[in-house]
Amino acid sequence: MSESISQVFNNLTIYGRNLSMRIKEILSQSPQGQNVTVQGWVRTKRDTKTVCFLEVYDGSCFRTLQVIVDKANAEDLQKELDRCTTGASVEVEGQIVPSPGTNQKVELSVSTLKVIGEAPPETYPLQKKRHSFEFLREIAHLRPRTNTFGAVTRVRNTLAYAIHRYFQQNGFFYIHTPIITGSDAEGAGAMFQVTTLPLENVPMVNGKVDYREDFFGKKTNLTVSGQLEAEVYATALGKVYTFGPTFRAENSNTTRHLAEFWMIEPEVAFCDIHGNMDLAESFLKFILSAVLEESSEDMAFFEERIQPGLLSGLQQVIDTPFHRITYTEAIERLEKSGESFEFPVKWGMDLQSEHEKFLTEKIFKGPVIVTGYPKEIKAFYMKLNEDGRTVRAMDVLVPRLGEIIGGSEREDRYEVLLGRIREMGLNEQDYWWYLDLRKYGSVPHSGFGLGFERLVQYVTGMGNIRDVIPFPRTVKNAEF
Ligand code: 4AD
Ligand code: MG
Repeated sequence: MSESISQVFNNLTIYGRNLSMRIKEILSQSPQGQNVTVQGWVRTKRDTKTVCFLEVYDGSCFRTLQVIVDKANAEDLQKELDRCTTGASVEVEGQIVPSPGTNQKVELSVSTLKVIGEAPPETYPLQKKRHSFEFLREIAHLRPRTNTFGAVTRVRNTLAYAIHRYFQQNGFFYIHTPIITGSDAEGAGAMFQVTTLPLENVPMVNGKVDYREDFFGKKTNLTVSGQLEAEVYATALGKVYTFGPTFRAENSNTTRHLAEFWMIEPEVAFCDIHGNMDLAESFLKFILSAVLEESSEDMAFFEERIQPGLLSGLQQVIDTPFHRITYTEAIERLEKSGESFEFPVKWGMDLQSEHEKFLTEKIFKGPVIVTGYPKEIKAFYMKLNEDGRTVRAMDVLVPRLGEIIGGSEREDRYEVLLGRIREMGLNEQDYWWYLDLRKYGSVPHSGFGLGFERLVQYVTGMGNIRDVIPFPRTVKNAEF
């Protein structure tokens, strides 16, 4: 941030003075001898006979600032110190001095201490001890104040920014696709309906719901994917991407599924399945490099406390080419492995998480892109291969997680697409505009979807997807 802009921010804060600094700046600049004001929250307080140590954080970075109150000249501060418990918000003013401790270069020697808001220890749920992630999910409004969730939040931010940077630097346009839609992008059901019809007295006609009375005059849902609309824009602007919320009403109670999640969906005209794989690989490598470089402090925490080996694993993904195999080859390799799986391996079945993990962790020891899935287990829009049985689908599988990206080359032949829509029992009237794209100036085009929370989970090593989104929506759970 330029000096003048940061000055403006400082003057905007309610309690700010001109020397107000964020802890990240103090720890990186070590402005010894300077008088500064810091605003934040108390993580811990520790007393000795002569001094009181406060660990203060302000969210700007992982580390806390050590704040020292000298008891010899602190009589007037004692009342404030008593109110200064874990979780209280404070404004401290004082001088930045060299720290005799080994944990930090500098600390703040207090001249003024103000408690802004108390956090009564009898009731404040976040005390010094380590809380379980399950417990923290129940207090999702307070968990961002913990080390882990602060780090997750900053890493999530770094990833989002890197994703936009990758696309913006490579000539893609950001498209805002609709949240409420009249079509089913994946053709697979599991959607949340959006309606203003009175549920206790639904208007009927000929034994069916009369959707002419509904808000949009037709049945509508929350979108499961922005892909179909992204295709509209890719076949006009060439290279586009979406980055927005998507919704799936699947009853999947797993550590990898959310009912509301964010998805990034690039879509490229004049691009076949091979170009699509190249894009996915280069994209993933770019954002992984960015997060290792830009969030190194938070990432060091995940390596140490959440997933040992995380950093070298991610670096290896950046450094080595992804394996590329067909579904048929994958099935052969799994069959030959002699491993006994819960879901027995057979051509035609969908790969389960156990198979994806076996492929990435045991057989290939790294990311694998699988193409050419049987058409029966993939969406209607994927381009049919010459064999008539498989489609140009592409799933990117990674160790520890399994599927992180799903995509395909799209069916660009009008007749074939229409045939597939009918074959899958979909209502062709709903897809008239999608079919039009194949009628007018059709081109080979491809794209994929990256689940943003799956990515954050993969990058941080967090075991449960509920812990990498601020307010998770899952079956029977939408408290916050
Ligand atoms: O494989 P999916 O269903 O593909 C699509 O939606 C395509 N329209 C994408 C495209 O080609 N433009 O979903 C894409 C990715 C998955 O690989 C996974 O990472 C994530 O979205 N995902 C989920 N993440 C969290 N919770 C869920 N319930 C998810 N379902 C899919
Ligand atoms: Mg998929």
